[in-house]
Amino acid sequence: MKVLITGSAGFIGFHAAQEFLRRGWDVAGIDNFCDYYSVQLKRARAVQLPFAMYENDICDLDALRFVFAEESPDVVLHLAAQPGVRYSITHPFVYQKTNVEGFLNILECCRHAAKVPKLVFASSSSVYGGNTKMPFEETDQVDTPISLYAATKKANELMAHTYAHLYKMQTIGLRFFTVYGPWYRPDMALSLFADAMLAGRPIKVFNHGDMLRDFTYVDDIVDGIVRVVEADGLPLYDIYNIGNHRSEKLLDVIDVLAKALGVEPKMEMLPMQAGDVYATYASIEKLHKAVGYEPKTTIREGIPVFAKWYLDYHGE
Ligand SMILES: NC(=O)c1ccc[n+]([C@@H]2O[C@H](COP(=O)([O-])OP(=O)(O)OC[C@H]3O[C@@H](n4cnc5c(N)ncnc54)[C@H](O)[C@@H]3O)[C@@H](O)[C@H]2O)c1
Repeated sequence: MKVLITGSAGFIGFHAAQEFLRRGWDVAGIDNFCDYYSVQLKRARAVQLPFAMYENDICDLDALRFVFAEESPDVVLHLAAQPGVRYSITHPFVYQKTNVEGFLNILECCRHAAKVPKLVFASSSSVYGGNTKMPFEETDQVDTPISLYAATKKANELMAHTYAHLYKMQTIGLRFFTVYGPWYRPDMALSLFADAMLAGRPIKVFNHGDMLRDFTYVDDIVDGIVRVVEADGLPLYDIYNIGNHRSEKLLDVIDVLAKALGVEPKMEMLPMQAGDVYATYASIEKLHKAVGYEPKTTIREGIPVFAKWYLDYHGE
């Protein structure tokens, strides 16, 4: 069986690719190595992956058609996207391009493939917007996104439903909840905190630290992905949360990270940022019932692993 992973040089794609290889899958990848964050980090991940990685943009439909024809995947794991809630405020057009047009290209390539693959794609907890009912359940209304990033992810879910309905292709969306671990993204909170703490700068703590996040260790996310990819008998179209089912106080997260890095954090308390949500908390019952998903890693176990990688990678 072959899986084509888009965004394979990315944080989650890299970990997912390694796990599929371990499980004996044939893996191919595609990534455009865009410079949203360190290209060097993406290259450092990619050199560890022993398979064909096409250096193409998913917005280039001809190139994408070529990759589909060459690889003929049984499953497409679509992770390539422009991520980041805050960046979508300053750079809206790249979200439309990669997350909407690029997603349509993926759907079209799947639809016209000689052997139509199962499509498993990354959605996001951000689709829950400012919902206050906790934990977030897949049946909750998600029609009020508060960032363009979230709106594009919700659009993906709608587009995938349409293709499943019209062309009977299986499309499964996974709403990831704040993923972290080794080989993590430098634009995300734990990295920004680690950068500042080690440089002795105060860390920027939004909403004065009054925030809750469901932090999910990357191995748990990958376990959920693999279970969905390998499961038979899932519906033609469905959406599942993949989170940790533990909503952590931001100040506790900072404390665990500071201890793991061996520093005393300085904090700059700031108001809430536009586009940010107060809390995320995943109900994972649906995925548990469907495929037995059960995350194992607490932040007290996972953050020290991230911190160790961070210190090694940055030569500290
Ligand atoms: N990390 C999280 O906490 C999180 C949470 C919710 C959802 N997600 C989603 O999960 C997926 C993977 O996230 P990640 O954290 O690994 O991000 P990432 O940025 O590390 O990985 C995405 C990869 O896609 C590539 N890419 C971007 N635009 C592309 C394009 N036009 N053509 C080809 N490749 C392109 C990038 O170069 C990158 O390597 C994304 O869809 C993201 O929106 C992530």
